[in-house]
Amino acid sequence: MGEFGVNLPDAAATQRLGWRLGQLCSPGTVLLLAGDLGMGKTTLVQGIGLGLGIAEPISSPTFTLINEYLEGRLPLYHVDLYRLAPTQVDSLELEGYWDGSEAEPGILAIEWSERLVDYPASAIGLRLDTDPSGGRRATLTAGDAHISLLKKVVGDGLLADEV
Ligand SMILES: Nc1ncnc2c1ncn2[C@@H]1O[C@H](COP(=O)(O)OP(=O)(O)OP(=O)(O)O)[C@@H](O)[C@H]1O
Ligand SMILES: [Mg+2]
Repeated sequence: MGEFGVNLPDAAATQRLGWRLGQLCSPGTVLLLAGDLGMGKTTLVQGIGLGLGIAEPISSPTFTLINEYLEGRLPLYHVDLYRLAPTQVDSLELEGYWDGSEAEPGILAIEWSERLVDYPASAIGLRLDTDPSGGRRATLTAGDAHISLLKKVVGDGLLADEV
């Protein structure tokens, strides 16, 4: 298990972090986004879309449940569980997005992933918290299989320290 912290002084930095994830993640990546209201989860997913080469604007999927973007390097599936009851979360059958049974493997980005009971052991965790300076602090966690990926993602130009 590896954990990395990254300072994100402004929204553009959040997008850049997403952009690197979009460029580097492989098919079947599950990204568990956590952090309070307005911490920048959707902003990060917009960056992922840019990194995947998706031109369509990415907006919050609160009402559509799952937004699918299929024009980039990999499919991007964007979910927001904020308003969903546990039974609604179950009915999304998200496992079909990571086991490849329902959808072509891509990147599955889940806002309010705290609501999720079942997720793959290989999932990458990304939590956003406030920073005293007014920006955000991202904490990324992953199992051994994805540590080298996270090092690449946080490595270039972004302040990173392994905790
Ligand atoms: N690193 C940052 N520093 C300062 N502001 C940021 C940063 N990242 C994003 N923001 C800003 O935070 C606000 C909320 O962003 P966003 O909608 O992406 O949050 P969210 O976590 O998806 O919210 P919700 O929980 O409602 O879905 C936006 O105005 C965005 O520009
Ligand atoms: Mg959001």
